[in-house]
This record gives sequence, structure tokens and C-alpha cells, in this order.
Amino acid sequence: MGIVNLENITDVVIASLGKSGDITDRQREIMTSLIKHLHGFCKDVNLQHGEFLEGCDFLKRAGQTCDENRQEFILLGDILGVEVLVDMLSNPIEGTESESTVLGPFYRENPPVLPKGASTILKHYDNEETAYYEGYIRDAAGNGVAGVTMDVWEDAPNGIYENLDPEQPEYNLRGRFETDENGHYAFVAVRPVPYPIPDNETAGELLRFMGHHPNRPGHMHFIFSKDGYRPLISQIYDAESDWLDNDSVFAVKDSLIGTFKSAAEALGTDLHFEFDFVLKTDANATSVAAE
Ligand code: BEZ
Ligand code: FE
Repeated sequence: MGIVNLENITDVVIASLGKSGDITDRQREIMTSLIKHLHGFCKDVNLQHGEFLEGCDFLKRAGQTCDENRQEFILLGDILGVEVLVDMLSNPIEGTESESTVLGPFYRENPPVLPKGASTILKHYDNEETAYYEGYIRDAAGNGVAGVTMDVWEDAPNGIYENLDPEQPEYNLRGRFETDENGHYAFVAVRPVPYPIPDNETAGELLRFMGHHPNRPGHMHFIFSKDGYRPLISQIYDAESDWLDNDSVFAVKDSLIGTFKSAAEALGTDLHFEFDFVLKTDANATSVAAE
């Protein structure tokens, strides 16, 4: 049945799958659903040929925007809520483990390895509020997990990540720490400020087409890694930040919101942020922190 009409076109394309070469069950599953949804979308909005060409041109320009430092398709996925959806499908919550959320495009491999309690601040700003971050990484039974590697990174008080800002020292506000024998972690950094995701190219075009803004609430990124535990990629959010209930990439989870309090003098910072995380055991899991 190769002759198409408006009624049979979806079935004809699906029937072509695997006709001229081997495909796996998973490839068939993915392509069948993709074709059904894509055709359904075109019919839903009665897509016209000029609009199809505009879409193709948009994707072409998105591809041309990608380079070593910019992955435009992840950004487009974020703006459409796809990265956070895929993250929730990939890391379903089955018990008391902490929720994950999007990695985002600003992670850098091999951050400086720092001792517990050290500062990630390599440049100071007039508007900065320094903060002592600490807490426990526990397993499902509530026991502290020793030797968890944790990478942390955040934007500077000017709202820019170090790798996008030539005015900041390399690896400013990034570090790799390890929990102590009780599962306790601690480091010094700044209170994260809200910032706009890169919106100068096709990501911005899509946001404007959707009538949405580029802003993210203030957050600190984490990756926790230890053999035998499911890796956790997550963020914590400042309960007092703007954009908390209107994040441009939909990545805020209630359970990841915490409160910055005034710090006791002995801590030597302006603020104190305490937050515990729970890791899920997974016998097959190996560390994800990039070395
Ligand atoms: C971030 O949190 O760094 C981020 C996440 C998604 C898109 C852009 C930035
Ligand atoms: Fe971020």
C-alpha cells in the first residue's frame, strides 16, 4: 500500500519501517510513535507548506548556532520542557531519594578539587552575598554516605557563568568536593542570582514565538556520584528568588527549594544554606562525575 491519501498516509509511512533493512524493536517503537505524533500535529494545526519551510529553516539555523560551547538543541528542548520531562522519565522517584532536574548547558568537566569547607569564590562583586552551604548526603535508610563526589557550579553575582564571561577567572564558582566519613559536605560560594538563558539566537526566537521569557530563578547546580548509587544531577533553589514559579525551563521542583538564613559569625559568610540529599542505591551504577 504505497499509494497515499490523507486518510492512509500515516499507516503507509509506518508500514515502511524495516522494509529495506533491519531495525530493532526499540527503533520501531520510537519511529512508529514519532510518525503518529508528527502527522497528528500537522493535521491538528492544518500545517501549511510555507509554515513547514519556515520550520525547516529554523532547524537549519539552530544547527548553525551549535559549536563547542553552545548546544542549541538542548536549549530548545529546555524551553519546550522536554529535558525536564525526559529527566523525570529517566529518574523516576520510587522512594525517599532526592529529585533530579536538568543538567543545563553550563557544566564544566574537571572542576578544581577542593577540601571540605573551602570557597569556590575567585572573584568578588559589590552585590555578592557569600553563603556557607552544608548538609548530609544519606542513603534510603538515613545513614550518611561517605566519599560521595559532588560537583557544584553556579552563576556569578553578575548573572553569568564563568565559562561565558571573559572577566571571570577560570572555574570561578565551581568546585569538586567529597562528603566526609559521616556523609557531611560543606563549601562556601555565593547566593545564586536569577539569570536569562542564552536567548540571542533561535532559542530567543522560540521564546518570543511562545510569548515566554528567558529567566531562571537563582539556583546552585550539583552532580553527586558514587559507585553503587544512582548518580544524581540536581539543583537547589532559593525560596526568595524571582521566577521560582515561572522558570523558563520548567526545572523547579518543590522538594528542591531551600532557604538562605543569616549566618552565625563563626561561619565567616553572610548567609547559611543547609540542605540534605538522599541517594538511591543501584548496584550497577558507576560514578558520573567527569574526570
Ligand atoms: C541552567 O540551569 O544552567 C540551564 C538549564 C537549562 C537551560 C539553560 C540553562
Ligand atoms: Fe544554571
